[in-house]
Amino acid sequence: MNLRNRNLLSLMNHTKEEINYLLNLASYLKKSKYIGNEYPRLKGKNLALLFEKPSTRTRCAFEIAAKDQGANVTYIDSNSSQLGAKETIKDTAKVLGRMFDAIQYRGFSQKIIEELAKNSGIPVLNGLTNEFHPTQVLADVLTMLEHSNNKSFNKIKYVYLGDARYNIGRSLLLIGAKLGMDVRIAAPKQFWPEEKFFIFCNNLAKKNNSKLLLVEDPYLAVKNVDFIYTDVWVSMGESEEVWCERINFLSKYQINNELIKHTNNFKVKVMHCLPSFHNTEPFVINNLFKKHKLIKNNQTLLNGFEITDDIFESSFNISFDQVENRIHTIKAILVSTLS
Ligand code: CP
Ligand code: NVA
Repeated sequence: MNLRNRNLLSLMNHTKEEINYLLNLASYLKKSKYIGNEYPRLKGKNLALLFEKPSTRTRCAFEIAAKDQGANVTYIDSNSSQLGAKETIKDTAKVLGRMFDAIQYRGFSQKIIEELAKNSGIPVLNGLTNEFHPTQVLADVLTMLEHSNNKSFNKIKYVYLGDARYNIGRSLLLIGAKLGMDVRIAAPKQFWPEEKFFIFCNNLAKKNNSKLLLVEDPYLAVKNVDFIYTDVWVSMGESEEVWCERINFLSKYQINNELIKHTNNFKVKVMHCLPSFHNTEPFVINNLFKKHKLIKNNQTLLNGFEITDDIFESSFNISFDQVENRIHTIKAILVSTLS
């Protein structure tokens, strides 16, 4: 298997074997870190971390993975650099290509990351665009495997609920279709992935013995699943104005006790890429509750947005295992691309 100098823009061009190779390498690197015999394979390598949107997990995971392996990182954001405003993406790509060994990009359209890849001459790794979040779903499927007593992928069933037109929904559909998994999406029709992309995934699914289901009914979709996955209802870069529409259309898809009951699986696990809107503590969420009149007499009318606070705080939730696996899977990508 040779992934040296390969871009990771979406996982669209990675084979099932390449994805499995990355996951096996991530498990190996995880064990090495745990037992303290990690060998640094990336000494002298320099990584540019380009962020046009905020991040906690992805940034930290890239920094830790790189440093564990002996590489240096430089964090660049759009407030403190010329990125996008005073310099074209093409010129930025050429500049970084002369200085670094690889670029991590988080930002808006997939077109931007493709432009970086086309002009930099070095590998470009997607740390989230509007369309894809490949490093997240690699960590997610590794987490599913670990929580399934290493059942093979074709025995794992998961459902994604919420806005399935965005990065997480699309990437979960794609990776499951490649790995032979049983993938369900439950969302109102206007939040389904675009038809062309779904057909592409469906063709992959047929080839890999995966099962894909796209439905509006959340209770039908969650039946007998091993994992329920959700994401925020409004993604980074979207207008605040859409919150009202999202609350109206997506409340039915909230992960709560009733939804869990409909899985018929008391061992079901709940997943979230995080950050999550499960209570009103963060001030942005508190303001949203007030703005949409979801707080009356100090009582909240809606218990969390995409997931209720009690489910988030329960043992159903494995999202912090997902977080840790971000390091190991990103490390596998860096090692396989740069060493
Ligand atoms: N899940 C995820 O990508 O988190 P951050 O936005 O904190 O990087
Ligand atoms: N869909 C979310 C994912 C965050 C990790 C967003 O793009 O904001």
